[in-house]
Amino acid sequence: MMDKLTVRRSILVLTAAISFLHYGSTQEDGEVYKGKYLGKFNAYHHQVSGDVYAVDEYTLLLTSFSYDGNGADTFFWAGATNRPGPQGFIVPNEWGITNVLDRYFNKDITLTLPDNKKITEIKWFAIYDLTSQNTFGDVYIPEEFDPPAPQKISQLTKRSHNVSSESIVIIDAKTISIPQFIYDGQGADTYFWVGSGPQPSSKGIKVPDEHGYLDPLRAYNSEDVIIQLPGEMTVFNIDWLSIFDVETKTNFGSVVISNGLNVPPSLVKVKKHAKAYPNCIQLHKRYHVSWEIFGPAITIQLAGQVGEDEYMAFGLSGSQERSQMEGADVTIAYLIDTRGYATDYNITAKAPCGKVLGQYRGVCKDELVGGLDSNQLHTAVREDGINVITYRRTLISSDPGDKEYPTDRPVYIVWALGRLDENKEPSFHDVYPKGDLKLVLNRTEHEYNCMDFTESDQDLSEPWEKAEIFDKSIRTFKAWIGPSGGKKGYQGMTGQTSTGLAWYINGQLIPELYLRRGLTYNFKVHGGNNPHSATTYHPIIITDEPHGGYDRLSDTAQSKVRVLAGVEFTRRGRPRPTAVGPLCLGKHNGRDRRLDDDFPTFKKFNRTLVVNCESEESGILEVTPNSTWPDTVYYNSFTHANMGWKIHVVDAYAKNGAIAFRLSWLVGVLAVFFRIL
Ligand SMILES: *[C@@H]1O[C@H](CO)[C@@H](O)[C@H](O)[C@H]1NC(C)=O
Ligand SMILES: *[C@@H]1O[C@H](CO)[C@@H](O)[C@H](O)[C@H]1NC(C)=O
Ligand SMILES: *[C@@H]1O[C@H](CO)[C@@H](O)[C@H](O)[C@H]1NC(C)=O
Ligand SMILES: *[C@@H]1O[C@H](CO)[C@@H](O)[C@H](O)[C@H]1NC(C)=O
Ligand SMILES: *[C@@H]1O[C@H](CO)[C@@H](O)[C@H](O)[C@H]1NC(C)=O
Repeated sequence: MMDKLTVRRSILVLTAAISFLHYGSTQEDGEVYKGKYLGKFNAYHHQVSGDVYAVDEYTLLLTSFSYDGNGADTFFWAGATNRPGPQGFIVPNEWGITNVLDRYFNKDITLTLPDNKKITEIKWFAIYDLTSQNTFGDVYIPEEFDPPAPQKISQLTKRSHNVSSESIVIIDAKTISIPQFIYDGQGADTYFWVGSGPQPSSKGIKVPDEHGYLDPLRAYNSEDVIIQLPGEMTVFNIDWLSIFDVETKTNFGSVVISNGLNVPPSLVKVKKHAKAYPNCIQLHKRYHVSWEIFGPAITIQLAGQVGEDEYMAFGLSGSQERSQMEGADVTIAYLIDTRGYATDYNITAKAPCGKVLGQYRGVCKDELVGGLDSNQLHTAVREDGINVITYRRTLISSDPGDKEYPTDRPVYIVWALGRLDENKEPSFHDVYPKGDLKLVLNRTEHEYNCMDFTESDQDLSEPWEKAEIFDKSIRTFKAWIGPSGGKKGYQGMTGQTSTGLAWYINGQLIPELYLRRGLTYNFKVHGGNNPHSATTYHPIIITDEPHGGYDRLSDTAQSKVRVLAGVEFTRRGRPRPTAVGPLCLGKHNGRDRRLDDDFPTFKKFNRTLVVNCESEESGILEVTPNSTWPDTVYYNSFTHANMGWKIHVVDAYAKNGAIAFRLSWLVGVLAVFFRIL
């Protein structure tokens, strides 16, 4: 059976093969590096022509390849005899298929030898007609040919701050692996830093870290780190890689990258981005902001390599001393279909916007909190996976709630990327800065240090395994609140966006529960009982739709929801939560939550959390599902959407429901796979 991983791998190989067609890494001489040159086709018949390169040990690249398609039984053909003849094997075409060849005109294609055969195991590669045993064109592999392959170079030199590593591996022209990397994280302004010249110097450039951040490096404790050179840069353009402190101009440890390494070309596609405004700062590998101040206004362009359902946020910090979300004045920019938005938001709490005791709190549109939308949208386009949104606002806006964009001093900024929820409101951010970022907006000398985007790595991170509680002896569930666990956690497990917090039931992150009709169950609720809190007031509710957040729905939306438990209605018809309990809150305990995606399992992630519980007695939600309950209902929070997950309501504890679920999942995966093929 094809398991999920195999399917994903096949997809990866396929996309990798396709993206070879547009790789764009350049060599020192400005030529695009395509691998090691094998030669031109010797042309005998049917207008065969083109050049052949070895991309790696298994893969050939044919460039400007032509063939008239008139052979009757003609294939790509390779073998180990002295010259092309009947002894050989078919090499599948660029789609991995062994059909009789069609016409090609001036095409670039990559071909992978079948059955893990290596280029060094063949002597020739040909366009060959099997029936007539005619060679239409061929190329010979030289004796002792050394195809490109990842190259191991030295370890990082150990100079200071405990920097060290195992031997560094250049995986391809843009990708560097640093195994067992150690660094104490104590440098002030320290980065992965590359440049040319005899030794590391401050004349270099930052390389985004393994997560695409350009922030100063954190501490690494023997971690395998893979970094990618930015924009068009390749290992052929640099002489060294250093762990470099820019502030003190100190090299903490480095490695020399010699010229002419025989490595595979990069699979990455470089996406050119035209310079729009004179100032630009790269916030993350996937996100940059450029701007210009002119007269009383600032024009800002946000460009991000984001999904169609992602927003870009940028604005002024809520604090004068550091970058802080609370109190910030930000723009949330996104596209819905082709319509762009650059909406002015006010952040009063790290929570989705909602009324807390009659007042709007959280990440709210200015217009909702009595302010004005001070942004004027200029343009918004999505092209090649990149959203570019330009807007303008006056430096001092007419909305007294807005912050002023200062031109006489630096200012702290905040930024983030994340997904829009089902109401097109920003959900918890996925990508955001850890430290402080200060910008001089009115620069006397313009500074443009943005790079081209490179095709994002395929996001193949598997969600954590879904937990379920399927045990007829369990009638009590302890429910508390904890971090939702990045892309592999709540988002990956449910496909829904997250507020950053989620329910933990009996120690599991959003398990699917199985409740039998007619039995009585108790939820011991520890979701917080302070209604003044914008972030941690979570009575539990059970409804027939997956989102919850009942309190924040409009009356119309509320009327469409069937509440099964956790809400009562006052005499005036207002909903009131019943299952309120003291707070038990799981926290990261100082660990950077941006590394959540690095945990392969929930269990390992869970071990890094610390749960603090208020000592009061639990709140209780008692439920007895009956015949009127639908087969699938959801537990959630009364106040915020998307914190809980499924309850299967069953008539008997039999496992076939779960099996059916797995089957439908497999069918879904296969359908995706074949659609891609
Ligand atoms: C650096 O390494 C030494 C031993 O190799 C260790 O004692 C020390 O704690 C390390 N320092 C930091 C900051 O990790
Ligand atoms: C944001 O809302 C708070 C509280 O409602 C208000 O004091 C502040 O002026 C608002 N800021 C903006 C930028 O609208
Ligand atoms: C920007 O700064 C320059 C000098 O630093 C100043 O002359 C100019 O007025 C400033 N521009 C704005 C719009 O404040
Ligand atoms: C997660 O950690 C909590 C303690 O913090 C523990 O009670 C629970 O069993 C753990 N869950 C799993 C699945 O390991
Ligand atoms: C079935 O459950 C619903 C929701 O909990 C409840 O309102 C209803 O009264 C119950 N019906 C019966 C017949 O017990």
